[in-house]
Amino acid sequence: MTSEERLRYAATVTGFMPVEEGLALYELARSLPVGATLLEIGAWCGRSSVFLGAGAAERDGVLFSLDHHHGSEENQQGWDYFDPVLVDPHDGRLNTLPVWQHTIAEAALEAVVIGLVGESTLVGSRLHLSFDLVFIDGGHGTEPAWNDYHTWAPRVRPGGVLAIHDVFENPLDGGRPPYEIYLRALEEGFSLRSVCGSLRVLERLA
Ligand SMILES: C[S@@+](CC[C@H](N)C(=O)[O-])C[C@H]1O[C@@H](n2cnc3c(N)ncnc32)[C@H](O)[C@@H]1O
Repeated sequence: MTSEERLRYAATVTGFMPVEEGLALYELARSLPVGATLLEIGAWCGRSSVFLGAGAAERDGVLFSLDHHHGSEENQQGWDYFDPVLVDPHDGRLNTLPVWQHTIAEAALEAVVIGLVGESTLVGSRLHLSFDLVFIDGGHGTEPAWNDYHTWAPRVRPGGVLAIHDVFENPLDGGRPPYEIYLRALEEGFSLRSVCGSLRVLERLA
């Protein structure tokens, strides 16, 4: 499958990634060194996984895609971003893993995108890798966002990239935690490389 086909497909996948920002992720992934190792936290149904995976595939890279696949707080019943189609009738919980697997297979990315199914900090406590790119788009509440930052930002290798989604300077546009961790990253050795919508791309100085 060509990158163009993958990007067209990504735009049809259920998810929260605007196409323009998804294309920015794709460009970012394909700008990394050959053989790069990427990590995304927050996969949902695989929309961002395909944008990043399409870029990684061009560079013989690998994307680890981490999610417990039971949704964030705002995805649960009674909240704004609840989708009843994604509830597993056997236990009544959200489960996006089957859809995510289908997405990765449809995009012919099974040799590029590796699913890590588990809670972010638990995975981080045992998985000791460094990454050329870390993309944070997991839980957007204070606790999960800071946990993701503390767990994964230190794993960006020198010269590597940290991307954060849903960064809103104006509180009227969205929640604070992604913006707060973005500010902390700027204080802790990252510099701003690019902006696209609510996506902030930072670089760790080599
Ligand atoms: C905003 S969605 C990700 C959207 C996705 N990047 C896209 O392109 O549509 C956030 C995801 O983070 C996951 N998540 C939230 N907290 C988590 C945690 N502590 N560990 C693992 N995954 C988590 C949720 O299950 C959800 O799928």
